[in-house]
Amino acid sequence: MRALVLAGGSGSRLRPITHTSAKQLVPVANKPILFYGLEQIRDAGITEVGIITGDTGAEIRAAVGDGSAFGITTTFIPQDAPKGLAHAVLTAEEFLGGDDFVMFLGDNLIEGGIRHVVEAFERDAPAAQLLLKRVPDPHRFGIAVLDAEGAIVRLVEKPKDPPSDLALVGVYLFTPAILDAARRIEPSWRGELEITDAIQLLVEEGRSVRASTVEGWWLDTGKKDELLEANRIVLTGLRGRVDGELDAASSVTDDVVVEAGARLVRSTVRGPAVIGAGAHLEDVHVGPFTSVAADCRLERCEVEYSVLMERCEITDVPRLEGSLLGRDVRVGRTERRPAAHRLLLGDHAQVEISEGRL
Ligand code: G1P
Repeated sequence: MRALVLAGGSGSRLRPITHTSAKQLVPVANKPILFYGLEQIRDAGITEVGIITGDTGAEIRAAVGDGSAFGITTTFIPQDAPKGLAHAVLTAEEFLGGDDFVMFLGDNLIEGGIRHVVEAFERDAPAAQLLLKRVPDPHRFGIAVLDAEGAIVRLVEKPKDPPSDLALVGVYLFTPAILDAARRIEPSWRGELEITDAIQLLVEEGRSVRASTVEGWWLDTGKKDELLEANRIVLTGLRGRVDGELDAASSVTDDVVVEAGARLVRSTVRGPAVIGAGAHLEDVHVGPFTSVAADCRLERCEVEYSVLMERCEITDVPRLEGSLLGRDVRVGRTERRPAAHRLLLGDHAQVEISEGRL
């Protein structure tokens, strides 16, 4: 059994972060989303991992390397354009080598790993096995319709008028039959070869396609609010550990990780939260569900329910909440006149200002 991890795509819903960074490498609890999937694949006993890459291939390659840090071996497979999940499978045909495989979308996070589904697939040997989860917004996903016995009747990709609320989670188990099906489908309205359509073809041909429902959480981290929610959920399972330095006027409560080399001066952190290596906090309060990445510098501010990527600098900001800041972002206060907000923002940046109402 092999694994195929999809780490291409443009990440348009996470712009501007994804103008410069792969969406799969945005951190949740200071660890790239993609790494959670790689660890779950390894924990399911799969070591041969192919990684489909797109425009951000160099960055993905640099972050994952040969896979030894995860106990896997990696093969990077460039996809010439984001032409769909079924196209990605066809692109990986040589790597797959006629084996069964698990396909894992690199921006999906699921609770509890995939070991049990891999075992069920190996035991029952269907042509394909899917994971489903009830969602409040089914038009955003591939959707499954089941009959009274729980067998799949129909699959449809992002329907305008959803026939059910059972979404296809981004983890699929396949036999090589999916390659043959992928070759026989046409591009969808969005111009992509949809894996949903390829699986639908297997269903129509009477092949055995199984589905099981995910009991725990499943997060598709495509947008800011989903990413912050993923960060909240992953931090909730955190066990506190202080390897950095706190001065006598600093304290941490509840589960807080302070990495080695981080330093707190007259600061408090209420967990769950993580403060990355080399971060410096001075006269700061960090509230729950916050991830401060390595080498950030925070002075005289309060931050809560936020993700700050590496080397952010925040100074004299009374309260920051629900925020996602990319690398090297600087937010500060000025005494310059005229008193005004002065911004230097990349394309697709979003700012919400709550003081100085007219
Ligand atoms: C893809 C699949 C969709 C599935 C979703 C899960 O959507 O096409 O069927 O429900 O992943 O994350 P996309 O990320 O391409 O919008």
